[in-house]
Amino acid sequence: MKNILITGGAGFIGTNFIRYLLLESDFSGRIVNVDKLTYAGNPENLADIEQTCSDRYCFQKVDICDAAALANIFSEFEIDTVCHFAAESHVDRSIAAPDAFVQTNIVGTFNLLEAARGHQGRLIRFHHISTDEVYGSLGADGYFREDTPYDPSSPYSASKAASDHLVRAYFKTYGLPVTLSNCSNNYGPYQFPEKLIPLIILNGIEGSALPVYGDGRNIRDWLYVEDHCRAVWEVMKRGEPGKTYNIGGRGEMRNIDVVRMICDLLDDMEPLPDKRPHRDLIQFVKDRPGHDLRYAIDFSRLQRELGWEPTESFGTGIRKTILWYMENRSWVERVKSGAYRKWMEEHYGRDKD
Ligand code: NAD
Ligand code: TYD
Repeated sequence: MKNILITGGAGFIGTNFIRYLLLESDFSGRIVNVDKLTYAGNPENLADIEQTCSDRYCFQKVDICDAAALANIFSEFEIDTVCHFAAESHVDRSIAAPDAFVQTNIVGTFNLLEAARGHQGRLIRFHHISTDEVYGSLGADGYFREDTPYDPSSPYSASKAASDHLVRAYFKTYGLPVTLSNCSNNYGPYQFPEKLIPLIILNGIEGSALPVYGDGRNIRDWLYVEDHCRAVWEVMKRGEPGKTYNIGGRGEMRNIDVVRMICDLLDDMEPLPDKRPHRDLIQFVKDRPGHDLRYAIDFSRLQRELGWEPTESFGTGIRKTILWYMENRSWVERVKSGAYRKWMEEHYGRDKD
């Protein structure tokens, strides 16, 4: 792998992945980061990389729905590998406005597959990043395996499911050397504060309300983003073409327990001016429609075949994450003063402030 095209590299996981590849992994080639820079894309995340790794990293502001622009990128940069993160990624937004999800997640993925097919002679690997949400919801027991039938609940997960099917079809029909990974909820540095964990950390630091949907008993399997990045790189290097790998964090938690844990850590790390416990800020709010009850991943294929294990427990990962948000206030201020604030006001009114 000499020239990797990474889509969505200015977003949360893409940023962490590019930093991992260039600063920590054994990868020695070049990266082209293609990103449309939606509200969720922040090129500032990689400003230092643009300076220090300018011979190995370049950014291209391109929409993956623009087929001609994608074809040019493949030729100009002699792309031999793709890692596809770009997506509309937030379930609540997909409920409020599904159109962009169909465009980017389905049509955009199709365009990328077509561009890759146009350069198939050179292509070593097309890795597609997906989610455990395609499998729907678990009850109290069981785990998602790679052969669990798809049963998506939200426009977001349905659009990701459609993109997964397209990727597999390009393997079966055209022999494109694809791999897929379906991971659980990520958390860590650079996550946009519309998702549960950064939202609770930042609202907690500010002393504003901490919204918990429904009764807070929904369960997610939390995966520290650096563990995820390591897993993706292993799959890209050694995964079998045509195969899917589930990635989980061994980190099942009820939402209310996640929120309480963050509250208790903040009481110690960033006490409120009046010394009130952060738990006083918790507010149970209207539930999300179609809210999946539980996600939990069986990642034994990845363990067995590629020797991957998560290294962070939720306890260690959440502490690192809180510290990152405390130490990166200027990033937070710039992100919060822009699109995030506008979205929160339009869609939740006072609920989240
Ligand atoms: P994110 O929303 O933080 O970032 C998405 C990035 O894609 C942004 O930089 C955005 O500008 C870019 N983008 C959006 N539309 C685009 C388009 N049309 N063309 C080019 N770029 C575009 O998302 P994330 O949390 O980093 O998620 C990355 C991938 O991982 C997504 O495919 C998502 O479905 C998947 N995933 C995320 C999680 C999670 O917990 N965050 C869990 C499972 C799977
Ligand atoms: P989220 O971070 O949006 O990820 P996903 O919906 O992809 O799992 O939400 C994680 C869980 O937290 C989910 O069960 C919804 C819940 N949640 C809240 O209770 N309050 C919030 O403000 C948000 C954003 C999410």
